[in-house]
Amino acid sequence: MTKISVIGCGYLGAVHAASMAELGHDVVGIDTDANKVELLSQGKAPFYEPAFDALLSRNVDSGRLKFSTNFADAADAAVHFIGVGTPQRADGNGADLKYVDAATDSLLAVLPEQPTTASLIAGKSTVPVGTAARLAEKFAAKGAIVAWNPEFLREGFAVDDTLRPDRIVYGLPADTDGAARAEALLDEVYGQILSGETYNDTDWTETPKVVTDYATAELVKVAANSFLATKISFINAMAEICDATGGNVTTLAEAIGYDDRIGKKFLRAGVGFGGGCLPKDIRAFQARVDELGLPRTLDFLHDVDAVNQRQRSRAVSKLADALGGDVAGKTIAVLGAAFKPDSDDIRDSPAVDIARQLRDAGATVRVTDPKAGPVVARFAADLDFVDTIEAAVADADAVAVLTEWSDYRDLDPSTVAPQVRRRVVVDGRNCLAPQRWRDAGFEYIAMGR
Ligand code: UDX
Repeated sequence: MTKISVIGCGYLGAVHAASMAELGHDVVGIDTDANKVELLSQGKAPFYEPAFDALLSRNVDSGRLKFSTNFADAADAAVHFIGVGTPQRADGNGADLKYVDAATDSLLAVLPEQPTTASLIAGKSTVPVGTAARLAEKFAAKGAIVAWNPEFLREGFAVDDTLRPDRIVYGLPADTDGAARAEALLDEVYGQILSGETYNDTDWTETPKVVTDYATAELVKVAANSFLATKISFINAMAEICDATGGNVTTLAEAIGYDDRIGKKFLRAGVGFGGGCLPKDIRAFQARVDELGLPRTLDFLHDVDAVNQRQRSRAVSKLADALGGDVAGKTIAVLGAAFKPDSDDIRDSPAVDIARQLRDAGATVRVTDPKAGPVVARFAADLDFVDTIEAAVADADAVAVLTEWSDYRDLDPSTVAPQVRRRVVVDGRNCLAPQRWRDAGFEYIAMGR
């Protein structure tokens, strides 16, 4: 059992804290948002994430998991995970490190002056390469060691990705004593995950561990997300070509995906990627390599971003074309607000962006989503949100499916048909069965098929 603190209790930190408690560690989660800490302390999740509620309440009830706004409550932990956000800067493409700096300054202030053993600061946040080395200098004054231990969890699968990750990466300091101490502490924390013996799992497999330096560990995360973003924009570019030629991008993706060098995953064409990671990570990576004096190296990520943004305007154009050239004065039902299903996260969500573009072009837009309602009310209150599919589609001139929740994939078009004014459906995620919608009298429009 290790005494652990997790600084920052958002999607990443809160799930990490609860998962570490699940492994038997004694954990305190620290966040400056008193509301969030209050909810978490009661075992209530402040966001929607499948399987998180049960994990959280079970571990709060066990007494192994506590939350606090007071950094002093983290002071005696052996390992401090940093899980605060690194959003895009308001004035540019780079990552805003204000939360990392604030969190580490606050932590530094409460660490003991003369520790008997060195504690470990394990960074999980996605940061520009070079950050770990900078923080290591800061923490050296208190005899604490810094390691970088990036997180690869996907929203919607966050609990499983944390307890059964496909790899664990340690970015360790150059000095061998510090590196050995850091590795030993991380091994102690992740022992069950590394051996594959994660809770109630009968089918144990070892988790690969990659041990490396700071820079590589920091780069692994942004390289992974850049690759994933590139894959999505690649297939969306193919979708544009399929639209121009009568091809079918879904079949194309299936056919190229049989080549296991390419693989089938992350080749779903549609309105593109959003969320709190991929868009800002590819921009921050470009900004960082510019600073490193390599201005051309990641030029292709600029195009990856542009292809991605273009899918949003393409969806708007497709709706306009279907409605006689203009959406002004038309009523459009937008099914989905979250950036992906099984999440209530609307950060940089294509669905929200498209809803706003339609509204700004003069359409009456009604948005619905199974889980994101409260988040839309808080962060996208300018949109007209309704609670049910029925309320969204009533008398609509077109239905746009922009997040592939199973509720929408499984929607019976024959029950939607009598509720709408005009039978037009835009399948922004290529997730509907075209023939079923056509059989119900709909003009079916997709993204590249
Ligand atoms: C991502 C990475 O997958 C994860 O490893 C990292 O730790 C954080 O960033 P996440 O943002 O939760 O995770 O979502 P992800 O599942 O990667 O999807 C990102 C976006 O791409 C979503 O908007 C999704 O709809 C879109 N997407 C995904 C596609 O448009 N097509 C695909 O084939 C796959």
